[in-house]
Amino acid sequence: MTVPVPTLDIAAGCAPAPSPDSERRAWLVAATAMGCAATAGVAVPLVASFTPSERAKAQGASVEVDIGSIQPGEIKVVEWRGQPVWVMRRTPEMLAQLEATDGLADPQSRAAQQPPYATNGHRSIRPDVLVAVGICTHLGCSPVKLEQGSPNPSVGSDWKGGFFCPCHGSTFDFAGRVFANKPAPSNLLVPPHQYLSEQTLLVGEDGTA
Ligand code: FES
Repeated sequence: MTVPVPTLDIAAGCAPAPSPDSERRAWLVAATAMGCAATAGVAVPLVASFTPSERAKAQGASVEVDIGSIQPGEIKVVEWRGQPVWVMRRTPEMLAQLEATDGLADPQSRAAQQPPYATNGHRSIRPDVLVAVGICTHLGCSPVKLEQGSPNPSVGSDWKGGFFCPCHGSTFDFAGRVFANKPAPSNLLVPPHQYLSEQTLLVGEDGTA
């Protein structure tokens, strides 16, 4: 049986919303990784190895992530429930910038869309580690990382760094908080997660179920 393969606009970095179909899930994660890498170029150190484990392939399985190899500023992408999950090690400069950012739609993540440990300014358990679903909350495209000073004309000269969705221009800071008056209605989703050790993150379970 021939399985139709969806087209991919790598230049735009877009991907449709995920579906339960396994072929489509794998494609979505790959598209996200390529979108990030293609757009970021040298500026985005993307950890290449995100091949899902056999355990992760099972629907709903939690995913263990070794965060010890992620350097400051890097993003590691893992698959969870068919979605790309970003695990990003934030630099001290990024964290400082989060405190100074204004113009956000929901700076403290009050909307009921994420675990309680994400209802703070950095939207994470550990300030230095962002864990977020890498899918735009507007129509499901794949945002890309843009550093401060990016020449991308879609962000202004005062851009302090964050994520940019090339489909309709939504912008997010390095906590995944959406800027006001953008198409995306809410911050990037934070999946349930917990730390098993200093270097091991578990995505998909937080002990509250
Ligand atoms: S899908 Fe991201 S802004 Fe529309």
